Amino acid sequence: MPSMSCTRKLIIAIDGPAGAGKSTTARRVAERLGYLYIDTGAMYRAVTLAALRAGIPMEEGALAQLLPQLRLELHLSPEGQRTLLNGEDVTEQLRDPEVTRWVSLVSSFPAVRRFLVEQQRRLGSQGGVVMDGRDIGTVVFPNADVKVFLTASLPVRAQRRYHELRQLGIAVTEEEVAAELARRDRLDSHRSESPLSCAPDAVVIDTTGLTIEEQTERVLELVRQKCNTAAELGVHSSREPRVSGDAHGSHR
Ligand code: CDP
Repeated sequence: MPSMSCTRKLIIAIDGPAGAGKSTTARRVAERLGYLYIDTGAMYRAVTLAALRAGIPMEEGALAQLLPQLRLELHLSPEGQRTLLNGEDVTEQLRDPEVTRWVSLVSSFPAVRRFLVEQQRRLGSQGGVVMDGRDIGTVVFPNADVKVFLTASLPVRAQRRYHELRQLGIAVTEEEVAAELARRDRLDSHRSESPLSCAPDAVVIDTTGLTIEEQTERVLELVRQKCNTAAELGVHSSREPRVSGDAHGSHR
């Protein structure tokens, strides 16, 4: 990859519906830049898992009482993100179909969003992050340096998710996966608080016919353009400087 002239750590926001390839793309982009990859969906899933385990009613009041008891930690490594809930590694449990069934409802409550968005802003405040989710470019970091909205047709997204779940040993049919994705798309796009939507200044990338390498390259190209524009304009940032280039690995 040609070296980048960025002298500061950028914030890269990747939003889009389930199965569009956000997490794979975001992880690879982060790896190539030596940035942190932060999967915000895992944070909403962890709160959902905690609520299911606590057996509380899935309503805002009950969740608001639970939130102060939750300590979320993200352990970031080149192999991906591990999510810890009150010290327990729950990464695998987060893909459980029961968590998937409830997560969109849990994410629709303003109290839950406030709790997590604050943590996400803290995690990204120094820059040098690739964050994926539904509202990163619209709400969490409306001033993100690069904003991408990844989409793909529903059948392609369902097929990808079906294979992922099968690899995790979860027994589902492709029809069930498609129905679940469509249901979540609907809920995520129509909630009143921070709905899934494309920021006006985001670049839309349809990954339907793209390979992972191609979609990663497209995002890296946007990063290069951003860095070159910043260099031409002599833009300096208040964020701390970073060494230019494409270092591998990620911070801990
Ligand atoms: O991996 P997948 O695309 O299935 O979803 P995810 O990124 O793990 O997110 C799970 C759910 O969390 C989404 O369907 C949204 O309801 C919610 N979410 C959100 O509301 N805001 C975010 N920034 C990230 C996820």
